[in-house]
Amino acid sequence: MNTNKESMKKTVLITGSNKGIGFETSRQLGHKGFHVIISGRDQLKIKKALEKLQEEGIEANMLLMDVSNHENILQASNEFKKLNISLDVLINNAAILLKEDRSLITNSPSIIENTIQTNSFSIINVTREFLQFIPNGGRIINMSSGGGSMTDPVGGWSPAYCVSKTTINAITRQLSFELLSKNISVNSVCPGWVKTDMGGQGAMRPVEKGAETPVWLASEAPQSLSGKFFRDKKEIPW
Ligand SMILES: NC(=O)c1ccc[n+]([C@@H]2O[C@H](COP(=O)([O-])OP(=O)(O)OC[C@H]3O[C@@H](n4cnc5c(N)ncnc54)[C@H](OP(=O)(O)O)[C@@H]3O)[C@@H](O)[C@H]2O)c1
Repeated sequence: MNTNKESMKKTVLITGSNKGIGFETSRQLGHKGFHVIISGRDQLKIKKALEKLQEEGIEANMLLMDVSNHENILQASNEFKKLNISLDVLINNAAILLKEDRSLITNSPSIIENTIQTNSFSIINVTREFLQFIPNGGRIINMSSGGGSMTDPVGGWSPAYCVSKTTINAITRQLSFELLSKNISVNSVCPGWVKTDMGGQGAMRPVEKGAETPVWLASEAPQSLSGKFFRDKKEIPW
């Protein structure tokens, strides 16, 4: 049974949060007083990440969830139900960028399918299963990328990944419309080019900066902002 103080605490679930921007976002929101639910597809990695957060005094739980697998998402939502708490913020962060992703014409179809399933369709599937826990006034944040922009010129890198991020932006717009009546905001974020396993060592931004905008959208940003694409806490064109 939650005490009153505990039930006042906001809860956030972040997919793919055993490392990188997802982990840092969990850490920053934990220090802002959120109850953090981290999740990932590898039990050992997610357990280690959980221990790190708890060592910093953050109230945290873990969920094993491979976002590319629908059965797995269902199991994770059943596990979440056992916590008997609501979910104020869902951050769809998990993604892959495969090194073999060089061409939509010559990539093996499995690379394209795996990328779009993991990065884009997962957002619909995770949102559908966890929506039952999100109250009116909740927030959904989808980690996108400038690579998915329909305004910037095509960069010529990782085309399946870029298509997956354009798809995320389309999903954000549609979900934002569908969830308007519940006052649940849905936004996309480009974190910039961030030094993580995905971004590589050449990236200019530290991971703390990459987490800045999702942390802001989860906490201080006005609830009325929805159906938008943000970088550095500012709206950017699709
Ligand atoms: N870094 C950048 O420069 C940059 C730029 C623009 C956008 N982004 C976006 O920001 C988000 C975070 O990126 P990052 O740089 O932190 O990447 P990262 O360091 O590679 O971390 C990605 C996370 O997603 C997890 N993941 C991958 N597939 C998964 C699956 N099927 N189920 C559950 N978890 C899965 C990974 O888990 P494992 O450890 O098990 O692989 C890892 O925890 C992504 O959406 C990315 O596209 C990043």
